[in-house]
Formats: sequence, C-alpha cells, structure tokens
Amino acid sequence: MRKLPVDKVKEGMVLARTLYSNDGNILLNAGIILKNSYIAKFRDLGIWEVYIDDEISRDIVLKDVISEETRFEARINIKNAMDSLRYGYSLEVKPIRNSVCKMIDELMDEKDAMVNMQDLKSNDMYTFSHSVNVCVLSLITGISMKYDEEKLRELGMGAMLHDIGKTRIPHEILNKPESLTKEEFELVKKHTSYGYELLKRSDVLSTYASYIALTHHERYDGEGYPLGLRGEEIHEFARIVSVADVFDAITSDRVYKKRINVNEAVEYLIGMGDHQFDYNIVRSFIEHITIYPPGTCVLLNSGEKAIVVDVNKKYPNRPIVRILADGEGQIPTVPVEIDLTKNNALLISEIIDDI
Ligand SMILES: [Fe+2]
Repeated sequence: MRKLPVDKVKEGMVLARTLYSNDGNILLNAGIILKNSYIAKFRDLGIWEVYIDDEISRDIVLKDVISEETRFEARINIKNAMDSLRYGYSLEVKPIRNSVCKMIDELMDEKDAMVNMQDLKSNDMYTFSHSVNVCVLSLITGISMKYDEEKLRELGMGAMLHDIGKTRIPHEILNKPESLTKEEFELVKKHTSYGYELLKRSDVLSTYASYIALTHHERYDGEGYPLGLRGEEIHEFARIVSVADVFDAITSDRVYKKRINVNEAVEYLIGMGDHQFDYNIVRSFIEHITIYPPGTCVLLNSGEKAIVVDVNKKYPNRPIVRILADGEGQIPTVPVEIDLTKNNALLISEIIDDI
C-alpha cells in the first residue's frame, strides 16, 4: 500500500483504504479497482490523495497507531460537537471523552508504536481530522513523557477541543484561499479566547481543556498569542499541543498552501526547539514519528529510485528500501532490498512523488 496524489492515480490501480464522505458514508470500498470516472470525481470531492495497492506496493504494510474505526468515530464526534456549537446548542462532552479514552487504550497497548502521518484530509473535514491528529500526536508525546492515564485523559481532551473556538469564526474566513487581511487574521486569533469561554462554561470539563484552548498558540519564546506567555509560564499540556498542532498543520495540504514532507517538518521542529517550542517536548514528540513511512518513494544519493518497505525505529533516516530503478532508470530484473543501516554510503536524498 502507498499514498499517491490523485493526479498520479491511474485506471486499474486498486484502492487500498476505504474512502468516506464527510457525513460518514462509504464512497468507495477498499479493494475496488479504480476507473477513470472515479478518479475524475476525487477532485470534485476535495480528495487530493488516496491509498492504493499497485505492483510496487502490494506487500507493503502501513499500520496506523489507532484503528480506522476509532479514528473515524473520533472525527465524527468532534464534527458533531463543533456543528452543534455552531448552531447554538451546548457542547456534549461524553462522546469526545469516549473517543479520547479509546485512543489512549489503543496507544497504551502498543507504547512503541510509530506514527505514520497517513491521515487523508479533505477540505471540508480538515478541522475535524486535524483535531483527532493533534490528539493522537499529543497523547503519543505524553506517553513518551511517561504520563499516567489521568494526565493523558486531561491532555487528550484539551487536544481534541483545542480549536473549538473556531466554531465562532465564519467558514469563509477559515477556508479563504487568499491571504487574510489584518482584520481577518485578528479575528481568527480570537478562536483561542472564544474556545476558552466555551469550555470554561462546561461543568464536566476540567480547567485544563479551556486553558489548552486559550494557550495553544503561545510560543516558548513569548512571541505567541493571545497572552504572550513564555517558557514554563505556558502549562506543559499546552506546550505539547502547540507542537502537535503546528506539526499536523504544516504536513497537511490546505486551501491556501501545500504541505511539506514529514522529514522537513521534523527538521523544522528541531530548528524551532527552544525558540517557538520547548526542546524537550520536541525530542519526545519526534521519537515516535516515522520520517519515511513505508510506501514512500525516495531518491537515493546513488541516483537509484526506491520505495520504503520498512522502518528502523532507532535510525529514522535509514529505513529498509527496495530498489525500483537504477541511476539510468532501468528496472532491476530481481528485486533488491537494502537496509540503509547496513550501507553507510547510501543516503536518502529526497522524497519523490512517484517512480
Ligand atoms: Fe488553533
């Protein structure tokens, strides 16, 4: 299985993961053979990437840290919560808490699991998918930092609800493809205090959730908003959520900008450690991020093109790859797999879209 941009998908390829519509219905089942008519529809639906099985990727397994059902249910729960707030109803916390607890259970079952950033986000579902991703990434970091379940629950609830204040910002501004005006940007920044006000009202949520909503855009160097807090003045939970939030945002395609690759995002976080972010948290965070997830096509410094078939947890830059084309573009007659930890001269130069 591998993730492929929609413009590289060809008729006859097999869909490797079920595609869902925004309201939770199945659009296409995993295993279906793609036709041109389906591929043409992807763009209309705001789908930019899909998982496919093809000759070079059929035997590659890409595991998610939480089950597809839990991820999907969590997305629907946060969507329902945000939709009801938008229409003036009160926040129902219980389904969100259930989702957070399920995620914790699944993550605790496999504490060494690595996160393959593999969630596909359509435009309409961005905020909801993002909330779930930020929750998973924050929890993984909390587990790295040896948090107990109680602390993980507090962190997870705050992470799921961190952007809840966006329900008070008009859709047109949140999804505007052009750059925001100064006034619009000031309004978007208010989602932090709006979120605080919304969550503070709840008698079932602890103060951590509202605090995380208020301070997840604060920065370690004091350059964030809305309060301009710095360093340890920002609660550790919010310091974790801010790293997860930025990481997921920059690795996602948005209407107004293209995503960057996971390896570049990790470099960015390391570079920003002790400036925008708490360096110790960045370290715990990246420990569980797969830089080159299985199925990623890469160019090696030898000029060979390869596909990642497995990861080496201790050496994230040196996965196991299968050579698909030599420097001249010739396809090897017998498949060759190379463990990059055993061949120091070989390096990954860059991620490529396709072979
Ligand atoms: Fe935010």
